[in-house]
Amino acid sequence: MLGTSDLAVAAAAASVPHIKLNDDDEIPQIGLGLLRIKDEDVAPVVETALHLGYRHIDGAAGYNNEGGVGNALAATGYNRGRKREKLWVTTKLRDSEQGYDSALAAFDRQLSLLRVEYVDMYMIHWPTPFDWRAGETWKAFAKLREEGRVRTLGVCNFLPEHLERLHKETGEWPAVNQIELHPTWQQRDVVAFCKEHGIAVEAYSPMARGADLNAGNGTIAEIAKAHNVSPAQVILRWHIENGTIIIPKSVHEERQRQNLDVFGFALTLDEHAAIDALDGPKRAGHDPLTFSYA
Ligand SMILES: NC(=O)c1ccc[n+]([C@@H]2O[C@H](COP(=O)([O-])OP(=O)(O)OC[C@H]3O[C@@H](n4cnc5c(N)ncnc54)[C@H](OP(=O)(O)O)[C@@H]3O)[C@@H](O)[C@H]2O)c1
Repeated sequence: MLGTSDLAVAAAAASVPHIKLNDDDEIPQIGLGLLRIKDEDVAPVVETALHLGYRHIDGAAGYNNEGGVGNALAATGYNRGRKREKLWVTTKLRDSEQGYDSALAAFDRQLSLLRVEYVDMYMIHWPTPFDWRAGETWKAFAKLREEGRVRTLGVCNFLPEHLERLHKETGEWPAVNQIELHPTWQQRDVVAFCKEHGIAVEAYSPMARGADLNAGNGTIAEIAKAHNVSPAQVILRWHIENGTIIIPKSVHEERQRQNLDVFGFALTLDEHAAIDALDGPKRAGHDPLTFSYA
């Protein structure tokens, strides 16, 4: 065992607020990101997180580790019954499998790898505007929702023009838009559009894959020192105060614990504003206009 008492785990899980979505579902505001963890390594990472109180995991077909995630869910009993009801499982469709029939076939395969009967959120991974199939894909997603095999439908990396196009073709706004968002890349125009249309914003790479821990020539580090917390906790707290859903990734138990423990302090208005002021012109990841995650 990991030495965390059942009481501490229950308290950690209970401390994470839920964000209400436009389909009335509620998503835990913190989840564990699963990118860049090998299939053979991912099960203990997920098991540790569940043990620490994480009740939300963020995966994707493109991460090539759904089988390992499924093994962790089965080993811990989080794939069925009451425990399953307490866990939010997100996964994403591969861009190469967008389209009506291909999305339905992909979903069957993903569900069987994950060893669950439904996923909480299924997402279009990239808009691929140069090969736009999101409208058709969405129709397959809606069928899965009708069948009760998916609860909430989301997209990732959609710019306002892609959200508008999807809405025009389907009459729906997604419940969630998962976008790259961290202190040095705040995408305020996309966030404002999402807020205006009732779409919840979920920040991926919430720490810029670690690069933002040193942002602002020590700004983050100074704030961390003032609160006796880590730079990671300062950045994650900033996201939480903004009402953003976050999915920090760590394979390390101590970091996972830290990343969940962001409810025992609050940033002052000046500190929050100092992080707002770190916004910059450089993304850490890919450009939604040109990228495809085959
Ligand atoms: N939809 C999309 O297109 C998309 C794109 C990218 C990411 N995502 C999702 O977002 C998740 C998170 O993004 P990300 O993995 O790119 O970046 P991130 O969460 O911003 O950063 C992860 C990096 O920070 C380190 N780290 C984690 N906690 C730390 C702590 N407390 N102190 C110091 N370092 C820490 C991790 O190292 P260790 O693991 O070694 O601890 C890892 O190198 C992904 O896992 C994935 O689920 C989605």
